Amino acid sequence: MWKGKSKAIISDFEDIHRIITYRHLLSQNLGVKDPLRVVALCDSDAFYAACEQVRLGLDPALPLVVQQWDSLIAVNYPARKYGITRMEKISEAKRKCPELVVVHVATYKEGEAEPSYWENPDTLTHKVSLDHYRRESMKIIQMFKDGLPTAEIEKASIDEAFIDFTRPVRDEILKRYPYLAQVPPDAPNGLDSPLPPPPPICWDNLGTVIPAHPNEEQLDGSSTTEPQEDVGASETGAVDGDDSSTTWHDVALSVAAEFMMNVRHEVYAKLGYTLSAGIARNKFLAKLTASYKKPNNQSVLRDVAIPNYLTPMPFQKIRFLGGKLGKALAQEYDVSTVGDLLTISLDEMQRKFGENSIWVYEILRGIDRSEVKEKSAVNKSMLASKNLLHPVTKPSQGHHWIRVLAAELALRLNEARENIPALWPKTIVLHVRHGYDSSRSKQAAFPFTRNVTVDVIAAAGDKLWKELVGTDSSRSTPISITSVQLSFTGIELAETGQRNIEGFLKARPPVSGDQSSAAAGSTKRKRDEREFSEPPFVQLAAEDVREDVKVSETSARVETSFVCKRCGKRVALSDVDASAEDAIARDMLAALRMEHEDFHFAQELAGQSEDVSAPRKIRPSDTPVTKRKVPKVKEGIARFFTQR
Ligand code: CTP
Ligand code: CA
Ligand code: CA
Repeated sequence: MWKGKSKAIISDFEDIHRIITYRHLLSQNLGVKDPLRVVALCDSDAFYAACEQVRLGLDPALPLVVQQWDSLIAVNYPARKYGITRMEKISEAKRKCPELVVVHVATYKEGEAEPSYWENPDTLTHKVSLDHYRRESMKIIQMFKDGLPTAEIEKASIDEAFIDFTRPVRDEILKRYPYLAQVPPDAPNGLDSPLPPPPPICWDNLGTVIPAHPNEEQLDGSSTTEPQEDVGASETGAVDGDDSSTTWHDVALSVAAEFMMNVRHEVYAKLGYTLSAGIARNKFLAKLTASYKKPNNQSVLRDVAIPNYLTPMPFQKIRFLGGKLGKALAQEYDVSTVGDLLTISLDEMQRKFGENSIWVYEILRGIDRSEVKEKSAVNKSMLASKNLLHPVTKPSQGHHWIRVLAAELALRLNEARENIPALWPKTIVLHVRHGYDSSRSKQAAFPFTRNVTVDVIAAAGDKLWKELVGTDSSRSTPISITSVQLSFTGIELAETGQRNIEGFLKARPPVSGDQSSAAAGSTKRKRDEREFSEPPFVQLAAEDVREDVKVSETSARVETSFVCKRCGKRVALSDVDASAEDAIARDMLAALRMEHEDFHFAQELAGQSEDVSAPRKIRPSDTPVTKRKVPKVKEGIARFFTQR
């Protein structure tokens, strides 16, 4: 079916059929334009479920689900064999599989500094904790970093990371084929001469190679669930049997696949987690490739296989095109697959969807110029939130939730400080939602404190609560608070090693004397002779202060809105959507966040400088946050992305 078409479309994919020269190979800084670029996306299989299976030391073959109140938030692969999905109620899942292992996610309870696996957690008194999963996620990322010291690694979500293999792979190619390091004297164009033909590649044990011509291949669709029989052992080798098409980029992919395989084996051996990975020439393709075959598998998308991999794909399945834009494209042209859209010329697309639709045009052709870049722990925020099934109706009821949320923030900050001891949240923000339509927030400077305890945070939170909500006696109008969020924002590095705490605090007055003396004690031990001579904050490189669009994973699971850290705007589900049950609201919010991120993505690609990309400004204290502001009239493609 695709055969006839493939000739016609191959020219669309020309960008990926570039001749690789000595200059390409020997240049170090070609960035996203590097024709030898190799990127992987690595995603943990049934992540929360795997975390619980490992924590409890259970047999990975047992069907297991993770429960949150009476919904499911993770279903392992053995449980999926019974037809159990994440959208189900616990009772339904148990009916399908009576021997199902059910683990309720850990929760915080007032008065406890740490979350725990309580007997009968109740949404009316407890709060979900994803801390264990976050910690396990950090361990996996750390193993990637240790195993691949020269690769760039970007954590993309709680269980995913992009790995840019370009540098380690180039080093390895030069090591294996040292003759490539010198341009031969008889090369016709010096550095710009093409490299000699690549060696044949043995793809055995490197994962599943996506066939270039799927209709001609016999695909083995079975999936491996036994980690022991990992990928390599049961995988097919050179699927195409067509070595004439082998390129140096394929060599690069195969080297990356080898590295990836080793790292995955190590993560399994040391931590017990199976991972699925996609290896391709950019982030977009790596992500698509990762889901080619799951679980416990890695797939490789060779350049030659890109056209036939992309063309039959329903384009609305592509992350960037899942929202309004995808719908509009489908309607405008009455089409459904990527291949259908390839017939639309760039001119035509730009006429209907604006200049910026060039990124759609490119994505459809497998082109993605976004970088893999590690996000700094600095300048992030930490947010703990709780949706209240039974709204708070008296100001005095707030203290319970402030303490529960403070416990989560304390734990997360102190854990982050294990790696970066001088992390300091400059601001604490309390955010409450009344009913479904109005939200208010108030913030205050957070004192630099070496020992940030639940009590310290709760005291600051209580103070904000009093200012924002009042007290039982001061409050005359009735209240109905449906959500409480406590967050740290503007997390920076206080460079305690270079300045003593007194000088430091002059720049920023402490709120409480106790805290400053505690801080002074520990700082004095560390200070060096240059005290007073340095600014209190480490100057951050421009890329370190880059904002991270994702809000805390915790809030995402239970919230109905989020604040985009890129534009500072609150993006919320509609009232109807927000009142859906937790699991559904969670999915809808995830979709909304993606759509919003895609909006920024589109903006970024288009290099536009609309106000949305302006640096975030912290809202003045006590400003009511109105949801669903009327957006500015947007031009071109931007109107297809959520910017509320
Ligand atoms: N998650 C969630 N709510 C969602 C989506 C994801 O709570 N709407 C959690 C899941 O519990 C999951 C983790 O985030 O364990 C990672 O999500 P994802 O990778 O989408 O699913 P997995 O459960 O890891 O399954 P898969 O093997 O398909 O990746
Ligand atoms: Ca996953
Ligand atoms: Ca994932």
